[in-house]
Amino acid sequence: MNRRPHKFDPSRAEQLERPERQDFLPNDRVLDLLELRGAETVVDYGAGSGVLTVPLARRLERGMVRAVDESPEMVEKLRERIKESGVRNGINYLIEQNRVPLGDGVADRILTVNLLHEVIGETALAEMRRLLSPNGLLLVVDWRGDVEREIGPPANVSLSPAEATELLEAAGFSVTPVQDTGFPYHFALLARSANPRTP
Ligand SMILES: C[S@@+](CC[C@H](N)C(=O)[O-])C[C@H]1O[C@@H](n2cnc3c(N)ncnc32)[C@H](O)[C@@H]1O
Repeated sequence: MNRRPHKFDPSRAEQLERPERQDFLPNDRVLDLLELRGAETVVDYGAGSGVLTVPLARRLERGMVRAVDESPEMVEKLRERIKESGVRNGINYLIEQNRVPLGDGVADRILTVNLLHEVIGETALAEMRRLLSPNGLLLVVDWRGDVEREIGPPANVSLSPAEATELLEAAGFSVTPVQDTGFPYHFALLARSANPRTP
């Protein structure tokens, strides 16, 4: 795909926190798609300031969240948010070049929201595939490039669900789109390793 990744500007972090976000992308509805039982290890990839990380940690009574981001500014905000929330099962890491300091297959789930269009051409999807356990589930939610909207990244740097599926399949995932998400501006895709035995 002939696109360049469009990176989030950390000085706009407050955009992620705006209350209107919960109208068009409610945390609860996103987290419901992870099909959690409460004991999973979940990687929040590109966690940003942790809008989803903390409510996710609260759903994991016996599990934990490993939140990763490549931006030192965002990781600092994330660290503060986890600390202030009082959750004890959220750990965050600053990563470089998509190298996550966790073992192969440790993630029962990977959550990645508003990230895919930022990692086109990078090794992020290969890293997610490495981290995902053989029966694990990757949830990809991102801004749609094929709907009219006045918020979010420009359409020309965003992906259609078909383009996102193509990227995921090329990285070795099999993909099931979530139908009727109720999200006006976002797609949601569930992905599993296409051949879990292949490292
Ligand atoms: C638009 S924000 C979304 C944050 C969060 N997922 C949310 O929904 O609020 C995208 C985040 O992904 C991070 N990011 C971009 N590329 C990344 C990469 N290759 N590895 C880790 N984090 C990345 C950015 O630093 C930013 O914090």
